[in-house]
Amino acid sequence: MIIKPKVRGFVCVTAHPEGCAAHVQEWINCVQTRGPIKQGPKKVLVIGSSTGYGLASRITAAFGSGAATLGVFYERPSEEGRPATPGWYNTIAFTRAARAAGLYAKNINGDAFSNEIKQQTLDTIKTDLGQIDLVVYSLASPRRIHPTTGAVHKSVLKPVGQSYTNKTVDTDKGVVSSVTIEPANEQEIADTAAVMGGEDWEMWMSALSEANLLAPGAQSVAYSYIGPDVTWAIYKNGTIGLAKNDLERAARNIDSLLKLKGGGRAFISVNKALVTQASSAIPVVPLYIAILYKVMKAHGTHEGCIEQICRLFAEQMYNGKSPAFDEAGRARVDDWEMRPEIQDAVRQIWPAVTTENLGTETDIAGYRSEFLKLFGFGLSGVNYEAETEPHIAML
Ligand code: NAI
Repeated sequence: MIIKPKVRGFVCVTAHPEGCAAHVQEWINCVQTRGPIKQGPKKVLVIGSSTGYGLASRITAAFGSGAATLGVFYERPSEEGRPATPGWYNTIAFTRAARAAGLYAKNINGDAFSNEIKQQTLDTIKTDLGQIDLVVYSLASPRRIHPTTGAVHKSVLKPVGQSYTNKTVDTDKGVVSSVTIEPANEQEIADTAAVMGGEDWEMWMSALSEANLLAPGAQSVAYSYIGPDVTWAIYKNGTIGLAKNDLERAARNIDSLLKLKGGGRAFISVNKALVTQASSAIPVVPLYIAILYKVMKAHGTHEGCIEQICRLFAEQMYNGKSPAFDEAGRARVDDWEMRPEIQDAVRQIWPAVTTENLGTETDIAGYRSEFLKLFGFGLSGVNYEAETEPHIAML
């Protein structure tokens, strides 16, 4: 079939297999151009490995330090003439490239919150890898079925305490408008923490530890975001921010566990705001990202997921020293985003943006092309007019 993008609001419901492979190859090339990460990880579990920051972590571990990687993700294969989700194609492309380079790469597709997928992962590590030295926890999910209670928790992106009104952009239509979001109730706050907080990460780490699958000195990292005050009501102080506070609580517990297990560590890395499937669903944030891209590109400091994770691994986690933690014990690769000159420029542009000047005041074009790339569209060297086979078996 010939696959074209079909954008519906903040999702694209199609994905292009060769385009996703070309995108993965771009990221591999980026890692290889930067050169090897000395003292990098060797046996790595990435939970949420098929897109965004998790995929970037897997590619950096494999192609930056020759690591064996086991990836866990939740993606849909192609069915009834519909293309698969991009993470499906990304993972196949990554696995082919890793194996061609002589690296171990195995995949587990299923619900990472479930006991079954955890057990399958433990069994695979036991049989194939023995012990692992890095666990990257990079899930972004709208829901979680709790493995012990069976309750279904749905996460929401809402402010807490009071309603919030700000500008937002419909990135597809290019319309800037005002949005008011009503505050979350107690149940929604608790549900969002159950999905995006730290309980599941702790469950993973306890299971790995009890099965003796963590190498002495093993590290674990999960990702968070803080951002500027213009987004705080919906992010840092909203339901997702409270869930991230719980992730930080979990990081402290897991850190103690890993320290006792032979001098390892666990921590949160605060990353830059970037176009991913998860971030495009948050109100207000895509407009901020479109402005941020314009400003950071003008300053020559723009980075994507892969550059962020390369910097995290090479300069923070594996440089022979402890990461340069902030006062709350978090690694910060959002440092370039948060520089005063960048935030001052964003703050100046924000109030003036309208539908009419969106194209000149922001990098909406860059936002859109990054968004389409997530689904394998707009990559050079890919013939989008040619027939392509959407049905590819997982490796
Ligand atoms: P993403 O949507 O690109 O990736 C999410 C991953 O989780 C995918 O691999 C998906 O298959 C997997 N997943 C979702 N539900 C699952 C389930 N039930 N079982 C197994 N796998 C499942 O998201 P993104 O943006 O890379 O987010 C990853 C982390 O990075 C999140 O914690 C997010 O808050 C954080 N982050 C994101 C930023 C951004 O701007 N995108 C900025 C800073 C942090």
